[in-house]
Amino acid sequence: MIEISHIHKTFSEKGNRVEAVQDVSLHIAKGQIYGIIGNSGAGKSTLVRCLNLLEVPDSGEIRIGEQRLSMKNGRACHAETGAPLTEREQSRLRRSIGMIFQHFNLLDRSTVFENIAYPLRYTGMSRKEISDRVDELLALVNLQDKRGAYPAQLSGGQKQRVAIARALASRPQILLSDEATSALDPDATESILNLLRNLNEQLGLTIVLITHEMAVIKTIAERVAVMENGRVVEEGEVYDVFARPREEITKRFVASASALSRIQKLMDEDSPMVRTRPGDLLVKLTFTRESVGEAAISAISQKFGIAVNIVLASVEELRGVALGGLIAIFTGDPAQIQGAVSYLENSKVEVEVLRRG
Ligand SMILES: Nc1ncnc2c1ncn2[C@@H]1O[C@H](COP(=O)(O)OP(=O)(O)OP(=O)(O)O)[C@@H](O)[C@H]1O
Ligand SMILES: [Mg+2]
Repeated sequence: MIEISHIHKTFSEKGNRVEAVQDVSLHIAKGQIYGIIGNSGAGKSTLVRCLNLLEVPDSGEIRIGEQRLSMKNGRACHAETGAPLTEREQSRLRRSIGMIFQHFNLLDRSTVFENIAYPLRYTGMSRKEISDRVDELLALVNLQDKRGAYPAQLSGGQKQRVAIARALASRPQILLSDEATSALDPDATESILNLLRNLNEQLGLTIVLITHEMAVIKTIAERVAVMENGRVVEEGEVYDVFARPREEITKRFVASASALSRIQKLMDEDSPMVRTRPGDLLVKLTFTRESVGEAAISAISQKFGIAVNIVLASVEELRGVALGGLIAIFTGDPAQIQGAVSYLENSKVEVEVLRRG
């Protein structure tokens, strides 16, 4: 379990103050895949670097498992005693948290074997033990046949597998992933996300995953925090955030991963697909797990005698639960249209009016 309370981190450079992380509090359950999304400069990397003390926050508390740390004067201290962590305690903490990056950070002149074995040096393990452990890790990431290869001989996805194996070498409970799929093509991204999900299930690994792509969050995260200007502006279960984004920035991220986002373009272009006549209503409907479902559409056309002209539709699956969206034009008697909208809202369908004709 990871608990972050009121973390602040400010950088001062040449008289410039950047408040990279401002008063962030988060709770990440053990064994969870937790996503952090935000635009460039939002403070995502700084926040996760605070977790393994690569950056020491200016103030706030961090709890990792049973260990409670409180930040004082730029140092991490034991919360109970106030005593600063020794170098050794800091490096032990860092070793207990694995980390992977966008650009893999492999040693180019070392083989796959040597890269993965690197964190196991000076741990008191014998050469045989190290070799066995590396083989185990290679099997875990499905790279047994690349043991002697050099990074230059690997694809991007394979390099990231090596980086994942290396990050897991010392059996951490937590894996931090900082834009680990940003440099990969869609196929490699999918296979790395699948691998992370398997590791999460097989090893009970807690994964904190930073990305600027909502599609990545949608694919594997259970909860998500949205960061903007150093702050967490929205947080919740991925399904809920997708179904009902509150903040402007969250809406933009959600739209970026939705098939329905084309609607804005169609409206801007005044496409014939979205042209409305006086009295028509262009609406966006969202069907969530609470909604009555598809029957609602035939119900409203029958009950209220209105025509429902579907412009765009999508049904997605988020961790096994369906989330549906529909953009449609309602045509008919204005009072009946209003009745249909109320009926849908009572059936727990979210109705957003995009335009009144
Ligand atoms: N070592 C540093 N010294 C000075 N400023 C820094 C340092 N590290 C980060 N910053 C600043 O802190 C802010 C947050 O940076 P951070 O790298 O955490 O953002 P990010 O959300 O990870 O962005 P990206 O998506 O581009 O990786 C930025 O304005 C950045 O310039
Ligand atoms: Mg970053």
